[in-house]
Amino acid sequence: MSEWFTAFAPASIGNVAVGFDMLGLALSDVGDRVMARRTDGAGVTVAEVRGINGELHPYLSTNANENTASIAAQALLDAHGAGMGVELKVHKGVPLQSGMGSSAASAVAAVVATNALLDTPLTVEALLPYALEGEKFASGGLHADNVAPSLVGGLVLCPQVLLPDIVRLPIPDDISAVLLHPDLQVNTAHARKALAKRVPMQQWIDQQGLLAAFVAACAANDIDLLGRSLRDIIIEPQRSANVACFDAVVEAARKSGALGCSLSGSGPSIFALCKHSDARNMASSMEHACRAQGIACQSWVSPMDAPGARLVGDT
Ligand code: HSE
Repeated sequence: MSEWFTAFAPASIGNVAVGFDMLGLALSDVGDRVMARRTDGAGVTVAEVRGINGELHPYLSTNANENTASIAAQALLDAHGAGMGVELKVHKGVPLQSGMGSSAASAVAAVVATNALLDTPLTVEALLPYALEGEKFASGGLHADNVAPSLVGGLVLCPQVLLPDIVRLPIPDDISAVLLHPDLQVNTAHARKALAKRVPMQQWIDQQGLLAAFVAACAANDIDLLGRSLRDIIIEPQRSANVACFDAVVEAARKSGALGCSLSGSGPSIFALCKHSDARNMASSMEHACRAQGIACQSWVSPMDAPGARLVGDT
């Protein structure tokens, strides 16, 4: 049998408040692993999908047409691995329906592991369109704000209109992301369908201004401007009521020095950006506020320059 290659792909914060569907941030220390090996047959098969506890996953499909990892890997093979057969094992580390880019992490890890099997592997950036095929299946839309940061790491601007090109943004100094995951689930495809189809002109103008200011703040390392611009005035008001602990957690983050705080992707996770020195205390305060609402939770602290997907040892 041929050798297994294992790839790790990190979770990510979609939208980062200011850039709906076009801005994303990679997280460190939490992600999915996908193992890939060549087989004698043609096409992609999924040998197993395991959950966070290591057990076989109760409902994620091993049907290759219904799994984001295999759909992404198959898209890569269709373009660059004619006739090749690949077997995958998917080991989830990112909670499902968490707003942490769970489906993107599986799709990205799958293309990075499968790429290692090709006779002429592609660059990491060139894998983006194939990982997006898996993400599209899961979320029902073409947005790269989880796939792109999971693939290349850091803070990434990825407007649909420029794809497959993406822009890696400069990272401001000494800023961390705190991510709180309440033990709730939000289905991204449903959350996207529920959004208003029209945006008042003034809101659109204001949100554009905030995104431009945020990007300028990152480039100029202007932390004051970063804090003033990190706001979502269009999407968050439509979604925050789906997350029972949202107001309490945001208040706790702000009291602990958050520069800004909003939903991660479509939620239920909530993220804050803050100075490194405030991050641990902020994570505890956000957890405390969430549990006070009767909701179990978990949090992660990550630098803004977390690395993207990579091949790792077979663990
Ligand atoms: N940009 C997407 C959304 C990300 O907010 O619907 C989902 O994680």
